[in-house]
Amino acid sequence: MTGKLVIGNWKMNTRADSARKLAAALLADAETNRDGVGIAAPAVYLAALGEQLQGSSIALSSQDVSRYAEDGAFTGEASAAMLADVGCRYALVGHSERRQYFGEDNAALLQKMRNAAAAGLIPVLCVGETLAQREAGSYKEVVAAQLAVLAELDAADCVIAYEPVWAIGTGKVATIEQIAEIHAFIKNWCLQNAAGSDKIRVLYGGSVKAENAEAILATKNVDGALVGGASLDADSFRVICQAAGKLI
Ligand code: 13P
Repeated sequence: MTGKLVIGNWKMNTRADSARKLAAALLADAETNRDGVGIAAPAVYLAALGEQLQGSSIALSSQDVSRYAEDGAFTGEASAAMLADVGCRYALVGHSERRQYFGEDNAALLQKMRNAAAAGLIPVLCVGETLAQREAGSYKEVVAAQLAVLAELDAADCVIAYEPVWAIGTGKVATIEQIAEIHAFIKNWCLQNAAGSDKIRVLYGGSVKAENAEAILATKNVDGALVGGASLDADSFRVICQAAGKLI
C-alpha cells in the first residue's frame, strides 16, 4: 500500500449505538471512507462494525489480540482467527496502555504478532517511551528494546506506531524535530535488524488533532497516524484523514 495510513483508536469508548453512528458518519464521507483509513474499535463491537463496514474502504482493526492461537480454554480472550473472522484487517499490538495496565512484555507481544500475521491480520506494533525515559535521554534504547520483537519474525507485513507515552491523551504533542528524529531512528533500526522491513510504515500517535495533523503527517518518515481522542469526533477525524489524503 502506498499513501498514508490513519487509524482511529477508539480505546474503551463508545456504546453499540454511538459506535454505529460514528462508523456511519465515516462511511458517508469520501475523506474517511477510503483506502488508508481504519478504525480500532472495542472488541465487543467489532463483529457489528465488520458487517457495517463490509464493502467499504474503511479497514477494521482490533485493539489487541490473544497471545494464544488455538481455540480452547482461555476465558476472556479473542484469538487472531476470531478477529479475522469478523472482518478485522489490522490488530494493534503492545499499545502502551496494554503494556502499562496489563503487563504485556516482549515475549507475549511476539506471540501476538505471530498469531496476528498467521491469521492474515496486519499487526501494528506500538512502541514509545515514558516522560522519565525521554528526560533521562534513554528513549532510543527503550524504543529499540520494544522493536526487538520485529527481529524475530518477518516484518514485511507489519506496521509500527511510535507513540510517546507522555504525548498520549495529554494534549502534549512531540515537536516535529522530536518526531523526525525518532522516526528516522526507527526506520534505520528496522533496516539493520528486521528482515523484510525495508518498506515498513511508521505511524505517529500522541495527541494528533485536526490542528496539528498536516504538519505531523508531512514530516519525513511519518507514514501515517494513530489517533486516539480526536478519532471519536467524526469532524476532527475527517480533517486528519483529509490532511493524510493530501500528502499521498
Ligand atoms: P490520543 O490521540 O488521545 O493522545 O491517543 C493516542 C493513542 O494512544 C492512540 O493509540
